[in-house]
Amino acid sequence: MERPRRLRTTPAMRSLVRETTLRAGSLVLPMFVREGIAEPARLTSMPGVLQHTEDSLLAAAREAADRGVGGLILFGVPATKDSDGSAASDPDSFINRAIARLRAEIGDDLVIMADLCLDEFTDHGHCGVLDAHGTVDNDATLTRYREIAIAQAEAGVHMIGPSGMMDGQIAAIRDALDEAGHQDVGIFAYSAKYSSAFYGPFREAVDSSLTGDRRTYQQDPANGREALREVALDVAEGADLVMVKPGLPYLDVLRDVADASPVPVGVYQISGEYAMIEAAAANGWIDRDRAILESLLAFRRAGADVILTYWASEVALWLQGGPQGLPAHLREYV
Ligand code: PBG
Repeated sequence: MERPRRLRTTPAMRSLVRETTLRAGSLVLPMFVREGIAEPARLTSMPGVLQHTEDSLLAAAREAADRGVGGLILFGVPATKDSDGSAASDPDSFINRAIARLRAEIGDDLVIMADLCLDEFTDHGHCGVLDAHGTVDNDATLTRYREIAIAQAEAGVHMIGPSGMMDGQIAAIRDALDEAGHQDVGIFAYSAKYSSAFYGPFREAVDSSLTGDRRTYQQDPANGREALREVALDVAEGADLVMVKPGLPYLDVLRDVADASPVPVGVYQISGEYAMIEAAAANGWIDRDRAILESLLAFRRAGADVILTYWASEVALWLQGGPQGLPAHLREYV
C-alpha cells in the first residue's frame, strides 16, 4: 500500500517537505490616505484598516518597513472630487505630498508604489474621464494617466500601479515616464483585473461615488483566456510586474499567468476577501490567523511572487524570527 501519511507524521516531517513559504519581503501593504482629516478614520467594512492622515501614514509605513514588508501601495481619498479627477495629477495635492514625504522619510527601505487610477478622484467614480454621452473615453483617459504618472514619479514613487484597465495604458505611462526622464520608475500593471463583487468594501475606503459598474473596462469573471492576452499586451508595452486581481476567486487565472509570464507576477487579495475572513472570524466561525496564512499560502502555491494584502504588516510581524518566533498555532504555515 502507498502510505502518503508517512510524510505527515510530525511537525518536523511536515516542515521538511513543505513546498511553499511566506516571506515578508514579498508582501505589499495597500494604504489609504485621506485629505482633510485630523485623526485616522476606521472603516466599518474593513475592521483594522484605516484611512490615514499624512502623519499616521508615515508612522504605519515606517512600522511596516521595520517589520520587513516589501512594499506599500498608496491610494488617495480627496476631500473634493471633480469630473476629471484633477487632484490626482496636481503636484501640490495631498496625495502627491504624501508620496513625497514617504520617499523623503522612508527612502528605499521599502518599495513605494502608488495606485494610478481616476476612480478615487472623480465625482462620477469611473476609472477614466467621460465623453459627452457619459461613456468612458479610453484615449482621453490615457492623457490623464500620463499626467498622473509624471506627478507621482516627480513626487518620488519607485513604482506605479495602473489599475484602470484602459487599453494602451502601460505604453502610454511608460512613454510619459521615459520622456520626463523617469526611466527608473517601474510599472506594476494590474493586468488581469476582473469586474468583481468583492471590491465592495474598497468603495467605502475611497468614498466612491460610482453608481453604475465597470464592466466595459474590467474583465468578465467568466473568462480566463482574456487574462493571458492582457498580460501579454502589458508585458509588450513595458510592464515590469503583472498582477491578477482579485485573488482567491481567480487562483486558476493566477496559475495560468504565473506559467506564462516572463516577468514577476503579483496577486491582490482585495477588500472583500479581507472582509470575509475578518467577519467570519469575528463571529467565531473560523480561526482568523490560520485562515489568513492559509489564504496567503494558496497564492504562493498558485505561483504568485508578490502578494498585496491588507494584512501585510501584521503578517510580517508574525514572520519575524522565523517559525520559532510564531505563535504555536501558526508555526505549521512557514
Ligand atoms: C481602482 C482600484 C480598485 C481597487 C484597487 N484599485 C477598485 C475597483 O477597481 O473597483 C480595489 C481594491 C480592493 O478592493 O481591495 N482604483
